[in-house]
Amino acid sequence: MSQCVLRNARYSELPEIARVMAHAFWDDNLFGDLIHPHRNEYPDDVDLYWLRRARVSFWNHRWQFIVAVDKDEAGHDIIVGIAQWARLGEGGRQPRGWYWDFRHVLKPLSSLAMTTHAWLWPNRASDTTTEDIVERSYPYFSMLWTDKRAESWFLDVLAVRPDSQGKGVGTKLVQWGLGKAEADGVCASVISAFGKEEFYSKCGFDEQYGSATQGEGNPLAGIKGGDIYWKAVREDAGSIGE
Ligand SMILES: CC(C)(COP(=O)(O)OP(=O)(O)OC[C@H]1O[C@@H](n2cnc3c(N)ncnc32)[C@H](O)[C@@H]1OP(=O)(O)O)[C@@H](O)C(=O)NCCC(=O)NCCS
Repeated sequence: MSQCVLRNARYSELPEIARVMAHAFWDDNLFGDLIHPHRNEYPDDVDLYWLRRARVSFWNHRWQFIVAVDKDEAGHDIIVGIAQWARLGEGGRQPRGWYWDFRHVLKPLSSLAMTTHAWLWPNRASDTTTEDIVERSYPYFSMLWTDKRAESWFLDVLAVRPDSQGKGVGTKLVQWGLGKAEADGVCASVISAFGKEEFYSKCGFDEQYGSATQGEGNPLAGIKGGDIYWKAVREDAGSIGE
């Protein structure tokens, strides 16, 4: 069992985090095969894909980047896993005094910088027709986070270094968000990659409802995976506003 410790990620760690993501999703049917068919010719461009995404979402106040840190053989800290959790709904709204929060400015600036960066250094590992397929699919299923599901801790990205998998790191990173959801009295949710459904069931997600591939015209239609899993609010838990 891994003795890793969880903590918030630092901005300076984003390149290492991007590398963990690139390696973990290398053989994934969506982020690997479909989006990055030329990844073996241009492996560094896959790291860049994840890095650009992370540099923008890092400044989004709804997001929490959690890293699992362990020691390598030389005793140095290494990042063995990463989870990107988002607090959706009213509970994740901009806090009072938001105007003075520096992220207010950094997020749009970072977004502009990364768009320019991608224009100057295009992702050669990707298929240009599918590179933004995930973003284009959101409108087809984002309505699922409404009514009793509107308040949720959502696990957007979970990745464990391939040589650290099977040691409980993924479970720890999932439990972090399930704990937050329980404390807030809201549900937790995740879109499962193909083949990871059983992992999420074992972690405690007890309901499957909706899919990231649903809806007429959804660019992800026909792609394997994408089932959405939920962990409901406990009946006796409080809820937002109570
Ligand atoms: C999926 C992933 C996060 C799991 O992390 P992990 O640290 O290897 O998982 P854990 O060691 O905590 O496993 C917990 C349990 O789930 C099981 N499990 C893990 N991956 C599984 C899989 N793909 N299918 C079925 N069961 C799985 C483990 O066997 C273990 O079961 P046990 O408690 O009965 O022994 C990791 O394999 C990964 O990063 N994969 C590539 C990226 C990815 O697909 N991320 C998920 C995107 S939605």
